[in-house]
Amino acid sequence: MTQGLIIRRAGLADVSAIWAIEKAAFLTPWSRWSFLAELGQRYSHTLVIGPAAPHPRQTLGYLIFWVVLDEMHILNLAVHPKHRRRGLARRLLAEGLAQARTLGAELAWLEVRTSNLAAQALYKSFGFREVGRRPRYYDDTREDALLLTLDWSEAGKK
Ligand SMILES: CC(C)(COP(=O)(O)OP(=O)(O)OC[C@H]1O[C@@H](n2cnc3c(N)ncnc32)[C@H](O)[C@@H]1OP(=O)(O)O)[C@@H](O)C(=O)NCCC(=O)NCCS
Repeated sequence: MTQGLIIRRAGLADVSAIWAIEKAAFLTPWSRWSFLAELGQRYSHTLVIGPAAPHPRQTLGYLIFWVVLDEMHILNLAVHPKHRRRGLARRLLAEGLAQARTLGAELAWLEVRTSNLAAQALYKSFGFREVGRRPRYYDDTREDALLLTLDWSEAGKK
């Protein structure tokens, strides 16, 4: 279903498309500057998914994560509304998790809105578990965040 699409590291030329998706995806979007800033951080990784040809710079979705020491923190993930339910987020997340593992991550973690059942289903299908809750974490709706983690070292002990 996602044949013909490739995942690559984002560059400055991708920021406009990423930001357009961000504004369509979130109630309180990140600023354009935030995406530019991420590209400048050594520990930050921005992956995009899009067609290999004939529009190699087109972006349909993105994933941003940090790897600091042995922890991966997933900061942002979105897919263009017209291209959802085609497995794009699943591909991005699989690639991001694999890259983080290669870089030495033993634990991945993220926050997700309690109402965001779509994203929770995605993360849980990768083995993320709910380990906590941050009350009224989101300023816009005062909604709680669920804290999800995936602990690879735990998986190795089984
Ligand atoms: C969450 C989001 C990234 C999923 O992207 P997507 O490309 O449509 O997801 P996929 O097609 O890869 O779906 C993978 C799995 O996620 C879950 N999922 C995705 N969308 C879902 C929905 N609307 N309802 C329920 N489960 C959903 C399912 O488990 C799905 O597996 P399945 O298709 O085999 O049932 C997308 O809906 C989005 O951009 N939402 C707005 C931004 C956002 O909430 N980002 C996450 C912040 S933590």
